[in-house]
Amino acid sequence: MQRREFIQTTFLAATAFSAAKNVVFGKDDRTVRLAFIGVGLRGRSHLRQALRRSDVEIKAICDIDAQAIAAAEKMINESGQKKARVFTGSEEAYLTLLERSDIDGVVIATPWLWHTPMAVATMKAGKYAGVEVSAANTLQECWDLVNTSEATKMPCMILENVCYRRDVMAVLNMVRQGLFGELVHLECGYQHDLRHVKFNNGLQPYGAGVEFGEKGLSEARWRTLHSVKRNGDLYPTHGIGPVATMLDINRGNRFISLTATASKTRGLHEYIVKKGGEDHANAGVRFNLGDVITTGIKTTNGESIIVKHDTNLPRPYSLGFRVQGTKGIWMDLNNSIYFEGKSPAHRWESDEKLMQEYDHPLWKKYAESASGAGHGGMDWFVLHAFVESVKRKAPTPLDAYDAAAWSAISPLSENSIALGGAPQSFPDFTRGKWIKRRPVFALDDTY
Ligand SMILES: NC(=O)c1ccc[n+]([C@@H]2O[C@H](COP(=O)([O-])OP(=O)(O)OC[C@H]3O[C@@H](n4cnc5c(N)ncnc54)[C@H](O)[C@@H]3O)[C@@H](O)[C@H]2O)c1
Repeated sequence: MQRREFIQTTFLAATAFSAAKNVVFGKDDRTVRLAFIGVGLRGRSHLRQALRRSDVEIKAICDIDAQAIAAAEKMINESGQKKARVFTGSEEAYLTLLERSDIDGVVIATPWLWHTPMAVATMKAGKYAGVEVSAANTLQECWDLVNTSEATKMPCMILENVCYRRDVMAVLNMVRQGLFGELVHLECGYQHDLRHVKFNNGLQPYGAGVEFGEKGLSEARWRTLHSVKRNGDLYPTHGIGPVATMLDINRGNRFISLTATASKTRGLHEYIVKKGGEDHANAGVRFNLGDVITTGIKTTNGESIIVKHDTNLPRPYSLGFRVQGTKGIWMDLNNSIYFEGKSPAHRWESDEKLMQEYDHPLWKKYAESASGAGHGGMDWFVLHAFVESVKRKAPTPLDAYDAAAWSAISPLSENSIALGGAPQSFPDFTRGKWIKRRPVFALDDTY
């Protein structure tokens, strides 16, 4: 049977995820042949993880930036792996990479506007797509991911590493064991002062510049322009991913509608004036993105969710998780938890003991392998899940429906803000399949 046909057949057959993996696919000792499109900072972070694994071969890399290619080649060389084929020279060079038959899966870590076209082309080429966050920018792109995955029967995994954060997975474990009772309200967000990232020209000490676009480095080259043009939650998935796994979104539950509000816009302009002076050319740039975007989501099962996007003001980092049910509440900001009848009445307790007690089985099993990997180890888990899915020719634990539903928050929040907070309906990207689909995330003992 042709490999692609085999994947298509097995993908269809895989109604029960873990059973399918073990019974239908069995073999798990294959080497996975990966390619990387985009080997900037994030792509090379994934590459570093991949090079540490004995079950991965890096077959090809692609980037339009010579320095990024050179840095990735150096890493591959130093790891002792064979030289990877290099694809560069044009923004479409990735299409030539995808023609190769010696690649099973592709890690895509390019600027946001490339994610969907590259993931779609990857699936059409019969390869697993692992796409960085967010996966899509428009509702059409969300549909493109879903439609292509369905038509090609190739999985598309959104590489949402925060789903694998150790405390978040321990709380998921508590949710599944009923400690919170029935979930009622959840909060999350991306609350990260990115001003030094948005204005990094690479020539001065980190955080000193006020340049972006052509003169910028890494994300300043492309991300900042989104803050000039757009006003909405531009980066929802680090927060909503973990919340969606706790609420079984697309698997018995789904997002129905949202409303969004934007605060005034001050942070980025003030930063430029403070660092570059009022006469700096960028002091005249008008930013459209509100400094704090607040989105309220309603689900079919009746929960409410608040998602925040807050990247332009001085503040310490926090994703602001809150998980609240009929029996208790957890908040990550002060690492505190409260369970009625168990905690002292009306008093927060430290979550430390429960985090250990409910440490997720996957973390218990793999903490050592993950140690030293990016973002406290969660980066190891997300790549591991992708690699293991490819190896077993199994569905990925986060899929095109998740990529679409989570990423859709960006265009829907933009629409809502533009219309003064008007409610926006989420498309049902599963076309009704959410009713019967069963939860799979982190329920397998391997990934
Ligand atoms: N999950 C996380 O924790 C996390 C962390 C950082 C970044 N990210 C995401 O990863 C992605 C990449 O971010 P980054 O920080 O590495 O940015 P970056 O700018 O450092 O890297 C992007 C790379 O893509 C390359 N590129 C651009 N267009 C291309 C094309 N057409 N073909 C091939 N290569 C192309 C660029 O030359 C660059 O090397 C973004 O979507 C970002 O949001 C996720």
